[in-house]
Amino acid sequence: MKVSIIGGGGLVGSCAGFALQAGKIVSEIALVDVNQELCEGQALDLLHGASLMAPQRITAGGTEACKDSDVIVITAGLRRKPDESRLDLINRNVTLFRGILADLKKHGYKKDAIVFVVSNPVDVLTYLAVKELGLPATQVIGLGTVLDTTRLRSLLAQRLNVPATQVNVTIFGEHGDSMVPIWSMAQIANLPLDKYPGVTASLIAEIESKTRGSGAEVIKKKGGAGFAVGVSIADVVHSIALDDQRIHPVSSLMNGAYGIRDVCLSIPTVIGRNGVKSHIEVELWSKEKTALVQSSNVLKETISKVLKG
Ligand code: 2OP
Repeated sequence: MKVSIIGGGGLVGSCAGFALQAGKIVSEIALVDVNQELCEGQALDLLHGASLMAPQRITAGGTEACKDSDVIVITAGLRRKPDESRLDLINRNVTLFRGILADLKKHGYKKDAIVFVVSNPVDVLTYLAVKELGLPATQVIGLGTVLDTTRLRSLLAQRLNVPATQVNVTIFGEHGDSMVPIWSMAQIANLPLDKYPGVTASLIAEIESKTRGSGAEVIKKKGGAGFAVGVSIADVVHSIALDDQRIHPVSSLMNGAYGIRDVCLSIPTVIGRNGVKSHIEVELWSKEKTALVQSSNVLKETISKVLKG
């Protein structure tokens, strides 16, 4: 399976490329970037390790590489400043993103291609891609709260000194300030989180707050996320490549779950070769449901202001 990464020269795109190489599942990784020199440098650096990885084609080029791609990952975009919210970023990124979509349409893409948006604000730009690319909505997804979810699981695991792979809690809603951690279903090794030794309400509040601030914290310390967002992207791409029907909190067009429509946000979503197979709607605490609807309203307000305005 061929994966193109628009913005492959940048931190997020190149880390996604490395995660896909290390994952050894996709057969071709095509880095695409306006900065050709940087893009070629990233591809060359990946290529140098190829003999220790798997038989994969690794290339650097322009948007024409997306023409025969099975998955087109869009990571290009201006990064947030540490004190800037993701939605504040939108005005600067919508113009750039619309240019990328136009370029994609000019060069063409397969009718069964999956477009995977990572650029921020990801939920709004995923909605824009759904509306402007002419692909079935199920073939357009966004990274959504996949990154937030792994951050929450990993930080909670570190705090409780348990394996991060055995922490199960998911974040729904916006990849942004209105994200909704679903504590009602949180578990550690299939044990209810609220009954797990050492877990207190203040510990949960502390980890939730750290998770919410993680994006800005990483930007402040190192200029932006790379490794965690790269493996998050690869994990979703691998579900597409393997058609494994795993459930991910990707952002996609809502069509009625929790009474929410006509907006892109994250809820548990079955992902396979054709993108979104189904949304999984499970009962939430009423305060979680309220927060999720509020998150959809925040995104709808931005969409109407910025995309339709
Ligand atoms: C983050 O939260 C890149 O938006 C991403 O770090």
